[in-house]
Amino acid sequence: MEAHAQMLETDTVYRSNRLAIESFTAARVSAKAAAPPKIVKIPVVVHVVYASAAENISDAQVKSQIDALNRDYRKKNADLGKIPAPFKSRAADVRIEFALAVRAPNGSPTTGITRTQTTKQQFDSHKNDIKFASTGGHDAWSRDKYLNLWTAKTIVDPQVGALLGYAQFPGGAAATDGVVITSDGFGTQGTAQAPFNLGRTATHEIGHWFNLLHIWGDDAGACTGSDNVPDTPNQADHNFNKPVFPHVTCGNGPNGDMFMNYMDYVDDDTMFMFTVGQAARARAALNGPRASLLTSDGLTKVPSTTPVVLKLPASAAARQAALARQADHGATRVFDGVGWVTVKSAAKATGTAKTATTRRRRRR
Ligand code: ARG
Ligand code: ZN
Ligand code: CA
Repeated sequence: MEAHAQMLETDTVYRSNRLAIESFTAARVSAKAAAPPKIVKIPVVVHVVYASAAENISDAQVKSQIDALNRDYRKKNADLGKIPAPFKSRAADVRIEFALAVRAPNGSPTTGITRTQTTKQQFDSHKNDIKFASTGGHDAWSRDKYLNLWTAKTIVDPQVGALLGYAQFPGGAAATDGVVITSDGFGTQGTAQAPFNLGRTATHEIGHWFNLLHIWGDDAGACTGSDNVPDTPNQADHNFNKPVFPHVTCGNGPNGDMFMNYMDYVDDDTMFMFTVGQAARARAALNGPRASLLTSDGLTKVPSTTPVVLKLPASAAARQAALARQADHGATRVFDGVGWVTVKSAAKATGTAKTATTRRRRRR
């Protein structure tokens, strides 16, 4: 059983959260907005967890994943032209962008990438062991401010086997909130392997994180389940590999399954769209259970605290002149060769050099 289905059966808090989120989403989606929603940018932290140096994927590979997300969620993907004609008008710009965080939870500057060496050869999607330092992974950063992505070479569901990835829907526990992706399917370069090397495992899993359901309705091939989106066809089961259009199930002809949707299971080069209805669901999540991301400071640059250090001129007069020059350049605190002094720009205040001089005298 998938982790999500298992949690619905065993975790009553999760179950009631999911029901509440579902009815909120339905109300939100039916209250049609007048204008397209604002473009929002989600701060992302990528936790790279590796056993060998080869598994420690490069910054460039991480960035290639962010770039792929920014194409897919903004309808800027190069393969849009492959959408079959009858589905073209349903393809949506979700108006969500992603960027690596520049401010860590403790307020310090960050690359938005953490790196953790581990002795574990694989991580378990039911145990969520990659999400905790105590079990060989890395702890989540606050889900209120960041989308947490974890990547390691091997991710295993104990009942299914190796996974490309898995996600937690809105409504789950904070400590495990986010998305896990195999490094063999992460980004578009480095260790990413065809046919999962277009970054679309993350596109799919982050779809879940934004509350999107599988397009076939998770009903194991019946025609009774739904993804609760009005503009995706009713479809029997997931599709794998590279199906040929049209693939008719559940009497959904003539166009058949929308297998080229990111929320199916086809190869990366065979999926290329979200629908307008899916975009509305994802946006509803941003107005509900994911709303705190909109006011995150994760993308607010930390001001540089690099001190200005003066070379020490020989004479006292030369030192004074140098201080005055620094002040003119906007420095507020400089090291004058003896101690840190506060200087004010001559442009803002007159008598700057005098202020600095007075302080220096006092400190001597
Ligand atoms: N959770 C799914 C799996 O592990 C992800 C499928 C992603 N599909 C893709 N073409 N990237 O199989
Ligand atoms: Zn899925
Ligand atoms: Ca179905």
